[in-house]
Amino acid sequence: MFTIAVQTGTWGGGNALPTESSVRDILFETNAICALIIDKKGIVKFINRTYLDIIEKREEEVRGHSIGDITPETRSLIVIKTGKAIIGYNWNLNSYNMIASSVPLIKNGELVGCFAYSIFMDIWDAQDLVDNFMIELKMYRDEVRHVYSARHTFPEIIGQAENIQEIKALAQKAALHPSITVLISGESGTGKELFAHAIHSASIRSKMPFIRVNCAAIPENLLEAELFGYEEGSFTGARKGGSTGKFELANGGTIFLDEIGEMSLTMQSKLLVFLQEREFEKLGNHHPIRVNVRVIAATNKDLEEMIRQQKFREDLYYRLNVLNLEIPPLRDRIEDLPLLVDHLIPQINKDLKTRVTDMSDEAMHLLSKYNWPGNIRELFNVLQRSMLLADLDNHRTITTKQIFFMKIKCDTIKPSTSNTLKELIRDYEKQILAKVLEETNYNKTKTAAILDMDLSWLYKKIKQYGLTREDM
Ligand SMILES: Nc1ncnc2c1ncn2[C@@H]1O[C@H](COP(=O)(O)OP(=O)(O)OP(=O)(O)O)[C@@H](O)[C@H]1O
Ligand SMILES: [Mg+2]
Repeated sequence: MFTIAVQTGTWGGGNALPTESSVRDILFETNAICALIIDKKGIVKFINRTYLDIIEKREEEVRGHSIGDITPETRSLIVIKTGKAIIGYNWNLNSYNMIASSVPLIKNGELVGCFAYSIFMDIWDAQDLVDNFMIELKMYRDEVRHVYSARHTFPEIIGQAENIQEIKALAQKAALHPSITVLISGESGTGKELFAHAIHSASIRSKMPFIRVNCAAIPENLLEAELFGYEEGSFTGARKGGSTGKFELANGGTIFLDEIGEMSLTMQSKLLVFLQEREFEKLGNHHPIRVNVRVIAATNKDLEEMIRQQKFREDLYYRLNVLNLEIPPLRDRIEDLPLLVDHLIPQINKDLKTRVTDMSDEAMHLLSKYNWPGNIRELFNVLQRSMLLADLDNHRTITTKQIFFMKIKCDTIKPSTSNTLKELIRDYEKQILAKVLEETNYNKTKTAAILDMDLSWLYKKIKQYGLTREDM
C-alpha cells in the first residue's frame, strides 16, 4: 500500500524564499500529493515522482507527451477547454483514491495550461474516520443520556393513602401517553420532582434524555439561551461555537420545567409559542428547529391566583395543564408516615453509614402530630438528624429522645407579650434554647448540634439570656 507521509521540502539558502527551480524540486519530491502541469494543448510539462510511481512510468516516458494518452480520464483536459477550475473531485488512479483539483494557469489574461494536484484519500482511511467518529458520537450520546437520565421510578413513590394512590395511578396513565404535557403542583417537598422522573422512566421515552431546567435558578436574561440555545456571536458573552439549548438536548425525551411559576412573562410567551408550534428558533438564527419532547412542568405556586394577579399567562396555564397532578401534602396522608419512615431509614443508613433499624411507637406518634410544612423533604431531614443522634448514643431505634427537637416544634410555645418583631424573636429564641438545654441536661455541644448552631454563639446566647442551671 502506498504510504502517505507529509514530507517537508528543504532547500539551501537559510531563511531566504526558495527559488523557482527549488520549488519545482520540492514539488517533484513531495510524496504527499500528485502534481501535474500541462500546457494548453495537453502536453505534460511537469509531473512529480508520486504521480509517476502511481502510473508506474519514468519521467521521460511522460514529459513532452499528451496527458490524454497517459491518463485519458483526466479532468485537466476539460479545464484547458473551458478555462474553469474543477475543485475537489474524487479521482481514482490505479486504485488509489484521491481528492483532486485542476486549475487553469493564466498568463497575461490568457490560458496557458493547467495545474492539477491530488491528495490521497484512501477509502478505508475515510471509513476508519467515519467509524471512529460514530464510536465517539455514540459515547457522547450515551454520556448525555447518562447525565440527563431520570433517576427515579414509580415503585420509589411510597404511599398507601387513597389520595396519593389516585395521583400515582393518574401519573402512570400519563406515562403511557408520551406526548401529553403534565403540570405537577404541590407544596414544597411533596415529591413533584420524583413524580416527573417516574413518569419519564415509565414512558417509551425512558432511553432518551430527561432534562431538568430550574426556571427559578437561571437569571431571566439567560433562560431563553439556556432553553433554546444560541449561535456564536448572537449576544455579548455568547460562547464560541454557540450552544445547544435544553429543548434540543432533550429531543426524543422529556424536558422538566421546574418552578415554572418563577418564569418571567416574556419567557412565558416564548414557551407558549413552542407548545403551540413544537418548534423554536435559536438566538441569532431564524431557522426553525423542530423537536419531539414531552414537557412536564412543576410548581409550588398557586398558578390560578398568579393568573388573577396577571403574573402568569392564562393561555400558557391551559397549554400546560393538559393533565394536572396535585400532590397531596404529608399532613393529608399522615397514615403513610410509618411506611415512609421504614422506606427512608435504610436509604439514610446507606448515606450516613448509620445502623438504625426502626422508630419507637412513641416517637412515631409525636411525629404524626406535627403538620409537616416541608413535607417529605423535611421528614427526610428530621430522620437524618435523629438517626445521627441515635447512632452517637449507640441506639438502633429512634426514640423521642432523638427527636425532642420536634417536641419544640409540636409543643406550643408560650405566646409572647412583646410587640416588636425584635422582642418577639428574642422571647422565642430564649424559650427554644431553654427547652433544648433542659432536654440535653445542659449538654452544650449536643444543644448546638441539635439546633445546628455554632457552639460559641450558643455560649453567647446562654450568657445573654442568663440560661444557667441553678445547680451548675
Ligand atoms: N412519596 C414519596 N416516597 C418516597 N420519597 C419521597 C416521596 N415524595 C418525596 N420523596 C422524597 O422527598 C424528597 C423531596 O422530593 P422532591 O424533590 O421530589 O419534592 P419537590 O416537591 O420537588 O420539592 P420542592 O418543591 O422543594 O422542589 C426527595 O428526597 C424525594 O425522594
Ligand atoms: Mg422540586
